[in-house]
Amino acid sequence: MKAWQVSQYGEPQDVLDLAEVPRPEPGPGQLLVRVLAAAANFPDALLCRGTYQVRPPLPFTPGVELCGEVVAVGPDVTGFSPGDRVIGGSLLPSGAFAEYALMGAALTMPAPAGLGDAEAAPFHITYQTGWFGLHRRAGLTAGETLLVHAAAGGVGSGAVQLGKAAGARVIGVVGGPEKAAVARDLGADVVVDRHSEDFVAVVKDVTGGRGADVVYDPVGGDAFRRSTKCIAFEGRILVVGFASGDIPSAALNHALVKNYSIVGLHWGLYQQRDPGSVRDCHAELTRLAAAGAIRPLISERLPLADVPDGIRRLADGSTTGRIVFLP
Ligand SMILES: NC(=O)c1ccc[n+]([C@@H]2O[C@H](COP(=O)([O-])OP(=O)(O)OC[C@H]3O[C@@H](n4cnc5c(N)ncnc54)[C@H](OP(=O)(O)O)[C@@H]3O)[C@@H](O)[C@H]2O)c1
Repeated sequence: MKAWQVSQYGEPQDVLDLAEVPRPEPGPGQLLVRVLAAAANFPDALLCRGTYQVRPPLPFTPGVELCGEVVAVGPDVTGFSPGDRVIGGSLLPSGAFAEYALMGAALTMPAPAGLGDAEAAPFHITYQTGWFGLHRRAGLTAGETLLVHAAAGGVGSGAVQLGKAAGARVIGVVGGPEKAAVARDLGADVVVDRHSEDFVAVVKDVTGGRGADVVYDPVGGDAFRRSTKCIAFEGRILVVGFASGDIPSAALNHALVKNYSIVGLHWGLYQQRDPGSVRDCHAELTRLAAAGAIRPLISERLPLADVPDGIRRLADGSTTGRIVFLP
């Protein structure tokens, strides 16, 4: 089968090689799937660079998320049959930027019926991260103000939709006028172009000086530091990621004086520690998708050959929504 492989760490466009490799065999607890669509995620770039929290043995195939069709099941696997359409994470080193991939049966979900393969591929990580962040960690309630950084991006676009579905007022921060249009189309009530406007001033203005109750921050750096200037009394800043490459330090005296919380989010840990809640979340997200409240924003459907360039552009911050690769 064809698979993109990383044999040494570096920039995605430099270290990804398209190779002919043996099809993996599913071991105990595993599924072999034919990749129907693979979603590009920021961690795919970090995996290529060797800077992600997970470092699979070299060589490996990246592609952390997919929609696939079950081809074979491991010896002890029940509940899945060849032909099932499924979504979830891949089992590295046999990732999704290939014709076939491995998945863990315990963490694999049925693909929502109303979504095509391309839309189903990025459904899992985007919305699970948003749901656990906004609801389980931050306790967002209807009527609150939610500030979303990188609101036209992958996880950001999902957080805008989930925030609106929860009855929050959503302020989206984006880089550039084209992304501003995307965030508006996603349903953000107020959109701030960080290249030309100060989001702190806008948040204070539209909340009558109160600030945002919840901040969803996949960017870090100045996005985090400036968010502390416009967080509400008893507000919650969700630390989702550091797409800027800048991991900021928190001034705890400031958190004390202003009565706000800095809340870490590592969604992957829920898969290990509380898989039942991940399945419950999937059922709720499937219901929201069926009701039309959430729908993945697919900006580009690309052939497998375009993986290096797509991951490079995602890492550069120039993409919107999700890029999906169709083998
Ligand atoms: N905590 C968790 O469990 C969890 C789960 C999933 C993902 N994540 C993290 O969430 C982050 C976003 O992932 P994603 O796949 O959804 O990516 P993404 O948001 O689609 O892309 C990153 C966005 O960050 C913004 N950005 C600001 N400064 C940037 C810079 N210097 N370089 C690149 N981008 C910059 C850009 O949007 P603007 O130009 O509009 O600002 C860019 O589009 C990553 O750090 C990822 O690891 C965390």
